[in-house]
Amino acid sequence: MLKPVTVMCMAVALAACAPAESRLPDNNAFSPRVTELLASMTVDEKLGQLHQAAGGRSRNLNSRLTDDELDRVRRGEVGSYLHVAGAEPLAALQRVAVEESRLGIPLLFAMDVVHGYRTIFPVPIAMASTWDEADWEAAARVSAEEASASGLHWTFAPMIDIARDPRWGRIVEGGGADPYLGARMAEAQIAGYQGGDLSQADTILATAKHFGAYGVPTGGRDYGTADLSERSLYEIYLPPFYAASRAGSGSMMTAFNDIAGVPSTANETLIDGTLRGRWDFDGLIVSDWNAIAELINHGVAETRADAGALALRAGVDMDMTSAVFVNDLRQAIEAEPALLADLDLAVGRVLTAKERLGLFDNPMVYHQTARETAELLSPDHRALARDVAGRSMVLLKNDDNALPLTAGAGRVAVIGALATDAWTQLGSWRAQGRPDDVVTLLDGLQTRAPEGVEILHAAGAHPGNDDLTGIAEAVALAESADRVVLVVGEDYDLSGEARSRSDLFMPASQRALADAIFNTGKPVIVVLVTGRPLAIPNLAERADAILNTWMLGVEAGPALADIVYGDVSPSGRLPVSFPRATGAVPYTYSEFPSGRPADPDLGRDSNRYHDQPITPQFPFGHGLSYSAFSYGELSATSDESGYHLSVDVTNTGEYEADEVVQLYMRDPVSFVARPQLELRGYRRISLSPGERLTVHFHLTAAQSAVFERPGAWRIEAGELQFHVGASSADLRASASVNVDASGTSDVPASAIETRTEVE
Ligand code: BGC
Repeated sequence: MLKPVTVMCMAVALAACAPAESRLPDNNAFSPRVTELLASMTVDEKLGQLHQAAGGRSRNLNSRLTDDELDRVRRGEVGSYLHVAGAEPLAALQRVAVEESRLGIPLLFAMDVVHGYRTIFPVPIAMASTWDEADWEAAARVSAEEASASGLHWTFAPMIDIARDPRWGRIVEGGGADPYLGARMAEAQIAGYQGGDLSQADTILATAKHFGAYGVPTGGRDYGTADLSERSLYEIYLPPFYAASRAGSGSMMTAFNDIAGVPSTANETLIDGTLRGRWDFDGLIVSDWNAIAELINHGVAETRADAGALALRAGVDMDMTSAVFVNDLRQAIEAEPALLADLDLAVGRVLTAKERLGLFDNPMVYHQTARETAELLSPDHRALARDVAGRSMVLLKNDDNALPLTAGAGRVAVIGALATDAWTQLGSWRAQGRPDDVVTLLDGLQTRAPEGVEILHAAGAHPGNDDLTGIAEAVALAESADRVVLVVGEDYDLSGEARSRSDLFMPASQRALADAIFNTGKPVIVVLVTGRPLAIPNLAERADAILNTWMLGVEAGPALADIVYGDVSPSGRLPVSFPRATGAVPYTYSEFPSGRPADPDLGRDSNRYHDQPITPQFPFGHGLSYSAFSYGELSATSDESGYHLSVDVTNTGEYEADEVVQLYMRDPVSFVARPQLELRGYRRISLSPGERLTVHFHLTAAQSAVFERPGAWRIEAGELQFHVGASSADLRASASVNVDASGTSDVPASAIETRTEVE
């Protein structure tokens, strides 16, 4: 539905009104419609398409814009708005673009729909703890259904930055520490957001972010330099982006930070070379908020025009809010006309995204108020949020079966201000989530208390302040009770963007509260609330049980009650290790052995700390169950199609429960040192008491390839060891295969999915 082209120059300089000569490459990959449109656009209209303007920032949405702003839309100076929402106000805005601008190009409406739109799911690090593709895809699908019903086309999710340093506050937003797990989560979320066909009214464009090594800033400080080796970049941080590209992510966002001095927003080698060149990524690339202008702060551009040229040349298509492209790039183009070719490519990609979303054929398809009313926070969506929250919780410790609490458990003092903190359950990036929608932890425990369980509550102390005056009352209540459920940790404001911490202990008020409660001598079950792995040596030592709940979303309370009262057996597994102390991060189960491995027999001259064990408090993959599982032998064979591994797993306990069977690989001799373990597969299975299932894993040879240089991975002949178990530190069976022939691969090994079957 192209509008006839009538040039309305008005106040715009004449040269800006003349359609620019197209410099598209001969093998122009754009559709006839996009190509035709490009040919009819002025340079200023092109620059306008690359501009993403802010309607508002998070809670401060502003979807009804001022007259001046609407005039900018009429003049074609805006391609997209972010932080806007609402089927009806966005319909009005879209109408201005489509009916009152010269070319009638529809706008793109975007928001950070990260773990739900109105139905808020557990925070991403909690979602990662499910180790369940079906959950990741389903939650993203529901998020897309709700967001699209509210007029949105585009989410800035998933965040797929691998993070091994819990000081970094944004660890809460991602899938944790492991490239294999991260790649699976990225693929599933993208499938959920985008569905099978982006032109459908209930699908939205996904954004894999933040390309390429945002999760490894120096010192864990947000926005800081990633100073890392090429090997780490390609083996650890980039595989989820490769997987996202293969999964057809409609867009990617560049990171704020630099890698060894090259800001990602201007990294031509990575964006144009690796992402677009080597990986054939054909989606839209958007900068992060104001990041193009910030190239000046980085010290790689002197002026805004320079900054714009750097970003455009590197391959960034859309400028989130800095307005450098729309205001300053023209100057750079005049000085260097060759940039026109880059401009056309960028505009072509923006228009192609709009075309893929079906906006040229039906720009109003996302604006149906009836659907908005029916979809948001529907009972089905809440039910999914509860199930996923149940699978997100990780039982870290459970001495003498302190959990579950069954009928007759007596007076239970639920202590901690976090038990009633609804905001915290919404976590970082809560889109349109509202505290009133949240069933709090206390509500859940109270409502569902079984026969003979009386729930009492005292706030004690809140992590957001140092007020300790409530602790005495909490202690008195604990003393009057049979047992305590102690709800402590971080509130939502301590993790997320710009929320890095130099100290991984719980905030002081939480430590004081915990100590006071432990000193009562009552049995204590800790319900940990957090957006990051914390150093909790005191809790690990003194609590009878620790259930890590992260931040669980709108159905936090009912999901907690399901676990605490034993209706559901805990089944979450840590996607990142919990350290013993701040000084022990970053840590990964996947480290290289070193010449003096951390072997207790080697004593002091080994890769260890003098003052504490090198091992984490709770390792990657860890998570207890109310049931127990035994593993049989691991059988391993190899043939031309790859490696085949099988193991029997039996539920030997008394609860119906899920186990997450984890497969790790080790390449014992290689041309470079290899990690001690690498996750290469996993499968969540549900087993009744006494039931046994066989899990089969099928890997291709490329999954054992070792990075040599970008685009070149080496498959080595020789022994390959596999281990299967319940966590990276609880390996139950091992086997080896012999790789007969060496070979090459051109893709990141951990981005490739292991096929699994269960029988
Ligand atoms: C964040 C991005 C986010 C953007 C838009 C930035 O501050 O780094 O992850 O998508 O804001 O809200």
